[in-house]
Amino acid sequence: MTTDESESGESSPDEQTRADGGAAGADDVALDPWGSSTVSDYRRLFDQFGIERFEEVLDGVPEPHYLMRRGVIFGHRDYRPVARAMREDDPFAVLSGFMPTGDPHIGHKLVFDEIIWHQQQGGDAYGLIADLEAHSARGLSWAEIDTHARNYLLSLLALGFDPDAGTLYRQSTNREIQDLGFELGIEANFSEMGAIYDFDGETDVSHMQSVVTQMADILYPQLGDPKPTVIPVGPDQDPHVRLARDLAARMRYFGVTEAYASFEADPAEHHLVASAYDALTGRDDTDAGATGDREGEEPVRCNEAAEFLEQQREPGTTDPEATTLDSTITMLREAGKEPLRPRVRVVDRNATPEAFEALIETIEGEKRVYDAHIDSFELSRETVEQLAREVELDHGGYGFQPPSSLYHRFMTGLTGGKMSSSVPASHISLLDDPDDGYEKVKQAETGGRDTAAKQRELGGEPDECPVYELYAYLLAADDDGFAKEVYEECAGGDRLCGGCKEQAAELMQEFLADHQEKREEWADRLDELDIQFESEKP
Ligand code: TRP
Ligand code: SF4
Repeated sequence: MTTDESESGESSPDEQTRADGGAAGADDVALDPWGSSTVSDYRRLFDQFGIERFEEVLDGVPEPHYLMRRGVIFGHRDYRPVARAMREDDPFAVLSGFMPTGDPHIGHKLVFDEIIWHQQQGGDAYGLIADLEAHSARGLSWAEIDTHARNYLLSLLALGFDPDAGTLYRQSTNREIQDLGFELGIEANFSEMGAIYDFDGETDVSHMQSVVTQMADILYPQLGDPKPTVIPVGPDQDPHVRLARDLAARMRYFGVTEAYASFEADPAEHHLVASAYDALTGRDDTDAGATGDREGEEPVRCNEAAEFLEQQREPGTTDPEATTLDSTITMLREAGKEPLRPRVRVVDRNATPEAFEALIETIEGEKRVYDAHIDSFELSRETVEQLAREVELDHGGYGFQPPSSLYHRFMTGLTGGKMSSSVPASHISLLDDPDDGYEKVKQAETGGRDTAAKQRELGGEPDECPVYELYAYLLAADDDGFAKEVYEECAGGDRLCGGCKEQAAELMQEFLADHQEKREEWADRLDELDIQFESEKP
């Protein structure tokens, strides 16, 4: 059967013929926010797109959510600052958005749970309805959007979102979002949009506007108060996350880097200068980057570093390396007798002249001021970054931190292929009648063998089983022991699919009944929320 989770070690999708005519050919990795989002090979997301593995940060997360423990949340960008804020009780935020194009289903529940969990860990939590996007990119009418929006919010609330502590909004009625989107749009141009999203001359302007609106959503929690912010989403949203991280940086007044001399080196050149500096001063890597002078010793001069690198030149080095070496040596020679000294450099990106002056004033200790940058010899990089952000905020800038993200696996459809909102039997809607939910689980594909005898002999294949996924992603909830038991009993041949599905179906029925009861309770209290449920749009 088809699975979204190829853990097999090959990079090609499962080669067997598929009786279900599943998504075999359609699951190349293409991260398209508006396309079909299947991922057959999660490893390519790491290698090709630079998403990081979640397991590498798991240890730093206090009491991780079960979706984290079970690898359902498999990837992230820059989650460390969020984890650190959680550990140290510093401010942080979580935000995600939902396009109201249909009923919320158990795939959306993953994201609801992620928002709610971060809220419970102390984060400022935001849930938004991407109604402008649904209207422009998907062409839904405002009446349809209103209905779906209400359904999404009811489920988010029923699952535990606290609206008094957190923020819920619709893009269309949030003026701050639209203004921020407009500002961010100044930093993004059409060719860039084309390159990221495959937009072309036929793409309508409102669709593009929905992108800058999403950029504003992502940065909204930081308005007036920059802080680590995590955006939990499916990996199809990664292009949006990357663009938002870029825009956050482009809006900054100042950029902070490290340097050794007055010239501007790119990162590869900087690395070479650092290696020469370390070698000539007898430092090792462990304290590279520290600031300050080595007291009483002769400084290392640029031309000496140039000679040192010249001697390091190996015949046969590949081209980009040789070019970097050449340019580094040239720069060092031109700087001649200037001493090499580690320093923290602030570069003026978009600062107002007043902000630049103010930053000069704020930097204590030895410093050198140039046309468009300031070198500080005594402060740490962290201190300089903090000062730069404070000055920026005081002078009308945003001071955004690059937003972080979390990525979860897509659930396999109950019918085997992709879980799709447009195929009712493939998913379980949070609005499904509990009896229908029960039936859908009973009808689901499994990772079981053809006969009970074979199952007892070989064991089932829980890794290939949409029913096991239901346990791991939802039904076992926080009970790792239970999830493990199902897995091991299945793999060991002690569990047969009939009974296993019956148990899952009953749990699903209970879950839906309970969830819908909570939805009902919230339905009576929606007027407590500061949110407009009926659009005034034409
Ligand atoms: N584009 C998202 C989707 O297709 C919805 C969305 C809008 C969103 N703004 C967001 C998601 C901000 C995360 C963060 O579902
Ligand atoms: Fe799936 Fe359960 Fe059958 Fe195992 S026993 S293959 S988990 S349905």
